[in-house]
Amino acid sequence: MGTSWKLDKATTMGSRMSMAWLLLLFLKVSGLKGELDDSIKLQCYQLLVPSHVLNCTWFIQRSLDVATTYVLHCQSLKFQPNQTHSERAERGQNWLIIGRSKLTQGENYSIWLEVFSAHWNATSNKLYFNLDDIVKPPPPVLEPVESDSAGALVTWKNPHWSEFHSHHALMCALRYKTSTNQGWTYLPNEEVGQEGHDLEDLKPFTSYEVQARCIPENGNGFWSDWSLSQIFQTPEAAPLGPVDVWQKVGASENGELSHLLLWKALDPESARGVILDYEVIYQEHNNSTHKTQCPCCNASLPPTAKYAWVSARNSIKKTLPANLSLEQTGKN
Ligand SMILES: *[C@@H]1O[C@H](CO)[C@@H](O)[C@H](O)[C@H]1NC(C)=O
Ligand SMILES: *[C@@H]1O[C@H](CO)[C@@H](O)[C@H](O)[C@H]1NC(C)=O
Ligand SMILES: *[C@@H]1O[C@H](CO)[C@@H](O)[C@H](O)[C@H]1NC(C)=O
Ligand SMILES: *[C@@H]1O[C@H](CO)[C@@H](O)[C@H](O)[C@H]1NC(C)=O
Ligand SMILES: *[C@@H]1O[C@H](CO)[C@@H](O)[C@H](O)[C@H]1NC(C)=O
Ligand SMILES: *[C@@H]1O[C@H](CO)[C@@H](O)[C@H](O)[C@H]1NC(C)=O
Ligand SMILES: *[C@@H]1O[C@H](CO)[C@@H](O)[C@H](O)[C@H]1NC(C)=O
Ligand SMILES: *[C@@H]1O[C@H](CO)[C@@H](O)[C@H](O)[C@H]1NC(C)=O
Repeated sequence: MGTSWKLDKATTMGSRMSMAWLLLLFLKVSGLKGELDDSIKLQCYQLLVPSHVLNCTWFIQRSLDVATTYVLHCQSLKFQPNQTHSERAERGQNWLIIGRSKLTQGENYSIWLEVFSAHWNATSNKLYFNLDDIVKPPPPVLEPVESDSAGALVTWKNPHWSEFHSHHALMCALRYKTSTNQGWTYLPNEEVGQEGHDLEDLKPFTSYEVQARCIPENGNGFWSDWSLSQIFQTPEAAPLGPVDVWQKVGASENGELSHLLLWKALDPESARGVILDYEVIYQEHNNSTHKTQCPCCNASLPPTAKYAWVSARNSIKKTLPANLSLEQTGKN
């Protein structure tokens, strides 16, 4: 939003000015050293931290050798009209910082870049802006996330912003993903609060990573960089059953016919946590019932067993039991 909007605005402003005036100003200030080239993309934003400096960056389509010289010109328009500050970038660097002492808060500036290389000299189009309108806030600072098995409350602070710009609010956006997944899910600022957001529809027992970034609410400015991540894990939820159980026919233990129960381990999606063990309850012909805890994925029951119920257990709960009648299949 920030970037293209800013360039559009600069262009519109530019076209509003009289071309003659522009040309005169241009000749006076810089002298016409190279062709005007709109393939030079110039962008400036004001940082707040560590101090209110201007960072101007440029991108040029063609490949230029490392000996190319870049000179940035910064002209005041309002308080100190026509005063121009020019600075040369470090070798091989496509950005330049204009120090706090060279800038006046609330001032309108015109900024352009000159490129000098062995085979090509050029001057960029001019950017026009008010310094207050091109602020790039520092990234927000996320606080530890509180989560339950299906959602999480993500909160953050903008300490430096409230220090300097308490009169403007920020709007923020979020992105999050599971730690094993490469792709982010983006939540635009329309859906996100100023200092917090409730993430919904999260999977239980899953590790997530979340980041936030903010932009001045009035739309004049740039998105901050993404914040550092907060990583959190949603707690377990009741496992989803029933367990898939069957009986192995004709199994014998110590020569005696017995019922061997077999089942499938719950898949992670259904387990929704760590399966601690499987609970097997069986009922004998005389109606007495027994309960045992078994590891995955079988249990041997006495020949007198009539019914069996199997459920998986995690730290939260057991699944609904799978109910198996042993008599019918057992006779085969
Ligand atoms: C200025 O911006 C450029 C491009 O965004 C970045 O690479 C560079 O680190 C920034 N410089 C400072 C001092 O923030
Ligand atoms: C300063 O720039 C703003 C827009 O950024 C414009 O509305 C205003 O007229 C300009 N003032 C001067 C004195 O150039
Ligand atoms: C700034 O430059 C413009 C155009 O060259 C000129 O009309 C104006 O008088 C200058 N202002 C100052 C304060 O020098
Ligand atoms: C670029 O500008 C420099 C300094 O004005 C000049 O010496 C050089 O010949 C120019 N190069 C080209 C290719 O125009
Ligand atoms: C087992 O319970 C059923 C139903 O309650 C009853 O009909 C049956 O007589 C009982 N069997 C024995 C052996 O107690
Ligand atoms: C049921 O039978 C088992 C042996 O199969 C025995 O140990 C148990 O005491 C009996 N329970 C009742 C209530 O009769
Ligand atoms: C039953 O499970 C144990 C592990 O808990 C395994 O070693 C054994 O082979 C299984 N028996 C059958 C008959 O699948
Ligand atoms: C288990 O299944 C048997 C036979 O299908 C049925 O009689 C019994 O009521 C069931 N018990 C439970 C707890 O579902």
